[in-house]
Amino acid sequence: MFKLFSGTSNVALTSRVSHLLLTPIADSEVVRFENSEIRVHINGDVKNSVCVLIQSTSNPTDTHLMELFFFCDALRRQEAKKVIGIIPYFGYARQDVQHRPGECVSVNVIIKFLESIGFYKIYTVNLHDEATEGVFSIPFKNIDAFPILAREIKKYIKDVTVSKVAVVSPDHGGVERARKFSDELFGHQNHTIAVVEKRRDLEHIHQSVALDLYGDVKGKVAILVDDMITSGGTLIHAAQLCLDRGATKVLAAVVHHDFAPNAPKKLQSSLIERFFTTDSIALKSTQKFKKLHEVTIAPLIAEEFKNFV
Ligand code: R5P
Repeated sequence: MFKLFSGTSNVALTSRVSHLLLTPIADSEVVRFENSEIRVHINGDVKNSVCVLIQSTSNPTDTHLMELFFFCDALRRQEAKKVIGIIPYFGYARQDVQHRPGECVSVNVIIKFLESIGFYKIYTVNLHDEATEGVFSIPFKNIDAFPILAREIKKYIKDVTVSKVAVVSPDHGGVERARKFSDELFGHQNHTIAVVEKRRDLEHIHQSVALDLYGDVKGKVAILVDDMITSGGTLIHAAQLCLDRGATKVLAAVVHHDFAPNAPKKLQSSLIERFFTTDSIALKSTQKFKKLHEVTIAPLIAEEFKNFV
């Protein structure tokens, strides 16, 4: 049997998983000191139990990461049989190469920490770049949330014929992701993919421009597919380009809403008609907006628990 633990970053998602599994969240406590340090305490007996911890390392990333590490340490000290980390949103995943000389490769550092603290296995959802999987030397699984998002969008555009839909990647790096998404959406491979040529300004954070669009979106519903959003710039510029090239409307499917403070407002007033996302990151009340349609990934996570014996 396993015990289910929740870090503080996304208790709502853990509760949904707990509800599906008919398993309570095990008792633990995270104390926050006034100097910003935290302390994790496991309240029950976990000796010889498989312990599964759900914790997204979303904003505030570093605090949530420390919590994740401390949970693992506390569980190991209480002689848990195995500690499995489910990190629905994996912070720092974008820093996976030296984009410029002199930079750190942050995701590699995080992985070293996870391994040396003693996690037995790590799960995440739509890791920014699948190649990062190769950095792990412990078992690792990348869960795909796009089938869930594709199902929701399918319902939303149920009256639109396939020939009137184009799946659009907002940058070159996401073409394979867009292709997989459209395979899910249509159930076959005979469909239109388009791609935006995006240039990021590496000297200024959150700055990018959409230079060109390759592929036909004229007279079609354009569905922008991305793994994550922060400032919203990537999607908003891509949406504008799709409409300039004759798309009838623009929808967006994004797994992780790692919103910068003004992103929800920008999306609500953007040309994107509906923004489909998941609950991999807890949505704050200040981040809700009318166009947002959030779908839970709890069933995908709950499904993995049959492996935890
Ligand atoms: C980049 O490679 C990612 O897939 C996203 O396109 C990017 O992180 C989105 O960031 P923003 O919303 O700040 O443009």
